[in-house]
Amino acid sequence: MKNQLSALQGDITRLQVDAIVNAANSSLLGGGGVDGAIHRAAGPDLVHECRLLGGCKTGDAKLTRGYRLPARHIVHTVGPVWRGGASGEPEALASCYARSIEIAAAAGVRSIAFPSISTGIFGYPIEQASRVAIASVRRAIEQHPAIESVVFCCFSAADLAVYEAVLRELDPA
Ligand code: AR6
Repeated sequence: MKNQLSALQGDITRLQVDAIVNAANSSLLGGGGVDGAIHRAAGPDLVHECRLLGGCKTGDAKLTRGYRLPARHIVHTVGPVWRGGASGEPEALASCYARSIEIAAAAGVRSIAFPSISTGIFGYPIEQASRVAIASVRRAIEQHPAIESVVFCCFSAADLAVYEAVLRELDPA
């Protein structure tokens, strides 16, 4: 069976999937954007577990429980800050998606949802980021066929339109 890649518009904290991915910072202690929303929805036990993880490098990912979320697990990854695109940003962003899939698969996850990592506070242009995201996820799930479905959870209708167009181009049905 072909792995399913799809995009939808919504709040990632509400999704009924095995794991959601957090666009965190290297402290893993919370922040604004989707990170703040995930910590609020999961509740205060999340930051306690995060304190034990010793932070996370850009391009890497770490796993916690989901606490009050419908999702059983949270994969916390740290995207690159956009500095014009020639400072290793595409490679770091691709690594976020690949490491997240790898860590999720090791935890037995079959369905996972990603936010659009780095495209908010970190300033990565959405179309370029969505190409990296979709290409990296496609490669990673070939290595991890136990991952059955990957959802790109877009916060805005404009972001969803970009993801849908790039999915049609890079992942035709
Ligand atoms: N569900 C889905 N997507 C969301 C949600 C939500 N509830 N809330 C925001 N987004 P950002 P970054 C979208 O800024 O650029 C934090 O302070 C948002 O519209 O959350 O990787 C961290 O601690 C955008 O499309 O993450 C770091 O310091 C996407 O999520 C820094 O921000 C990512 O935007 C990370 O910046």
